[in-house]
Amino acid sequence: MSKVGIFYASAGGNTKLIADALKEAFEVEEDDCILMEDDFDSVEQFEDYDVLFLGTSTWGQGDVHFSWVDALFEISSQKISFEGKTIAFFGAGDAKTHGEHFCSALGKFYQTFSKTGAKIVGFVDKEGYTYEASLAEMGDKLCGLAIDNINEPTKTAERIENWIEQLKNEL
Ligand SMILES: Cc1cc2nc3c(=O)[nH]c(=O)nc-3n(C[C@H](O)[C@H](O)[C@H](O)COP(=O)(O)O)c2cc1C
Repeated sequence: MSKVGIFYASAGGNTKLIADALKEAFEVEEDDCILMEDDFDSVEQFEDYDVLFLGTSTWGQGDVHFSWVDALFEISSQKISFEGKTIAFFGAGDAKTHGEHFCSALGKFYQTFSKTGAKIVGFVDKEGYTYEASLAEMGDKLCGLAIDNINEPTKTAERIENWIEQLKNEL
């Protein structure tokens, strides 16, 4: 049986909406839901899991939440292996005010974790989103679940629900 861990950052609770839905759908224990700012100490914490759901909202100019910065740097610089693990990315952004970097933090996740040997799942059709540019865009897909709970709050629940169904098939 695969062990699932959720590692996420959410300043205002939007990314947390996805984390909470994943927790419920995949029956993830509270101890296996890691809020980066409070509960994360070391990249060794990733070792406990076969499946990792990794979340962050996007900040600055398409950056990950600050609580992810050291972990991503360590994974890249130390070439840490995630071989045998399956990973999916999720996060919130703002396609109107920050449409030139919409949920680009998910693209930053991809840049890091795609080099670790992990299998990455949970790509979403970009159709249905309106933004200028995003590092998360890969062909006709986004490399994870992006939500815009500021401008499109009525789409959030369905986006999360559909993604969870997709993940259940992909895992
Ligand atoms: C200073 C600032 C910079 C931001 N930069 C981006 C950005 O580059 N791309 C984006 O999609 N959203 C950006 N946002 C919007 C946040 O990602 C958005 O408010 C999101 O819903 C926050 O999610 P959270 O509540 O999970 O932290 C920015 C917001 C602020 C206040």
